Amino acid sequence: AEALKIGVAGLGTVGAAVVQLLSKHGGQIARKAGRAVTVTAVSARDRSRDRGFDASGFEWFTDPVEMAEKADIDIFVELIGGDNGPAEDSVRAALKRGIHVVTANKALLARHGVDLAGLAEANKACLNYEAAVAGGIPIVKTLRESMAGNDVSRIYGILNGTCNYILTRMEADGISFEDCLADAQRLGYAEADPTFDIEGNDTAHKLAILTSLAFGTKIASDDIYLEGITSITTADIQAADELGFRIKLLGVAQRTETGIEQRVHPTMVPKSSAIARIDGVLNAVAVDGDFVGEVILVGPGAGGNATASSVVADIADIARGDETPVLGMPAEDLKDYQRARMRMH
Ligand code: HSE
Repeated sequence: AEALKIGVAGLGTVGAAVVQLLSKHGGQIARKAGRAVTVTAVSARDRSRDRGFDASGFEWFTDPVEMAEKADIDIFVELIGGDNGPAEDSVRAALKRGIHVVTANKALLARHGVDLAGLAEANKACLNYEAAVAGGIPIVKTLRESMAGNDVSRIYGILNGTCNYILTRMEADGISFEDCLADAQRLGYAEADPTFDIEGNDTAHKLAILTSLAFGTKIASDDIYLEGITSITTADIQAADELGFRIKLLGVAQRTETGIEQRVHPTMVPKSSAIARIDGVLNAVAVDGDFVGEVILVGPGAGGNATASSVVADIADIARGDETPVLGMPAEDLKDYQRARMRMH
């Protein structure tokens, strides 16, 4: 078959890494997925910036919505970010044309995920988002596919690389919160607006998506108890250390008698636990399934190359012809659930 044509919207840290990955490993992806894929169009505001690759062969757009509406592409890759504006408009435009969408945008999915899933399904398009949760860790596939036979009772983890990087370096090197955050931004881990990382919103967006996949509920990010890491000091970290604990920002969703409880907050975890040993930009997600037991996935939660790895996995799934429903089951089958009871450990 002819190669699938890809349009990449947004050429920041992740977008540039996706173009480079596809150019480096295009041959093996074609063999593994059974069909070749090729970038034919890109959209970014600044055409002249050096991004480390030759972009002269691509059709260029400055407006991602125009690319979604007009470009001759089979897959629209949204790496713009933001839960409205050009990201939302371009994704909707692509889906309405029946063009498959791959996105890393957790904020967009947390806010409009169920609606967009319905739009994709109505237009027989895929909407894949492995990169939206925990960067390079294949947790979306794990829940949608590998653990499809399980009833999940609990899912929790470290879902923000920037926060884990900050907490790790404050503890190990005694560096101030502000300096750690500046390093995380320089390394390309942080969101465009890093308050989303440190206030816990980014973790909440990812948790809301995981909850929906794990429990078959609608995505409900407004129902999450939310507390970030901005008030954590090196003194707190030292005090926890003396008691045998480390401080981690966790997202937790679990089934309770009154519904699904979702919460994000700094948590003291015993040093002997697996989660306490997740350092730096690594993320970890633990899922309790009734048949399999507990599964824990660990890997890089942010950064251009790790996130590009997940974006390309989604592209390969489309090339392969995988038509798994967007949220693990048809959007119209998702259940509402009783509002979460907010409760601390
Ligand atoms: N800012 C996010 C993080 C990027 O630090 O985890 C990955 O979603």
